[in-house]
Amino acid sequence: MAGSKRDVKLSIIGAGNVGAHIAVYAASKDLADIALLDQNADKAKGTGLDITQAMATANIDRLVVGTGDYADTANSDVVVITAGLARKPGMSRDDLLEANAAIVRSVTREAVRHSPNCVLVVVTNPVNTMAQLAYEVSGFPSERVIGVSGVLDSARFKTFIAMELAVAASRVNAMVLGDHGAEMVPLVDHCTVDGIPIRELMPQERIVAIVERVRHGGSEIVNLIKTGSAYYAPGTATVEVLDCILKDRQVTLPCAVYLQGEYGVNGLYVGVPALIGAHGVEKVIQLHLSEAERSALQVSVEHIRQRCDMLKAGAKG
Ligand code: LAC
Repeated sequence: MAGSKRDVKLSIIGAGNVGAHIAVYAASKDLADIALLDQNADKAKGTGLDITQAMATANIDRLVVGTGDYADTANSDVVVITAGLARKPGMSRDDLLEANAAIVRSVTREAVRHSPNCVLVVVTNPVNTMAQLAYEVSGFPSERVIGVSGVLDSARFKTFIAMELAVAASRVNAMVLGDHGAEMVPLVDHCTVDGIPIRELMPQERIVAIVERVRHGGSEIVNLIKTGSAYYAPGTATVEVLDCILKDRQVTLPCAVYLQGEYGVNGLYVGVPALIGAHGVEKVIQLHLSEAERSALQVSVEHIRQRCDMLKAGAKG
């Protein structure tokens, strides 16, 4: 990409709201030159021009090149998959399963053909199952396929605690594991504000209400926007993961990663804390969960497993 720095290359598949916002935030952070691909090539090209011109106003020398041709994504260090349908009011992420699986299957094939050494970052919903599918279709080692889930859900958890206690969200330490759906697991017993457990800061019924709101945080926004789902926080959450990979930051983030015995789970993408760096998942972090957290995680894992089985049954039928 002439006129720009050629250090790393990022490709984003899908130039909808989520893909476009990932491009804006990633370019704003000067992370990489970006290829933004959409089956509607003109939409991708227009969006790419708009974002590149936005960077010019901010004196950031990054190009975002829109395209409909996978050849333009060749040799990416990271490929982000956002392509797929978003929810409308009344839909759960599971309602997107079959349609988005078909999209993620074909996008993954094309993306890895052109970037055989990339890290795949999957955003399309239902994200745990789509990450699993991308892992299977790509044939990549599991550390190079990551789903974005917990960073977004944890941001919602932090936000609601901060609002409840009227403190800055940056003072809240909170993490959400498991599925990215109604069965997600906000880790109440690990949650602190300035190091103080939230159980000492608010009554149980407020904690229960906040956990419930976090679990339906995506739907709350879908029901308000009505025409689609959230994209600002999904965008920044994804860029947090990208930042760790592209700068080899080795930071622990809750992500959907492939478990091989950790947390008693085998062969499934589940949201857990993982050390993220240049290779993708550098290490799965095993937390000591409380009894309540452990049993909630089991329920969540069961839901993920059922959804994967549903997809497999659908593919056979
Ligand atoms: C959300 C969707 C993007 O949680 O999954 O907002």
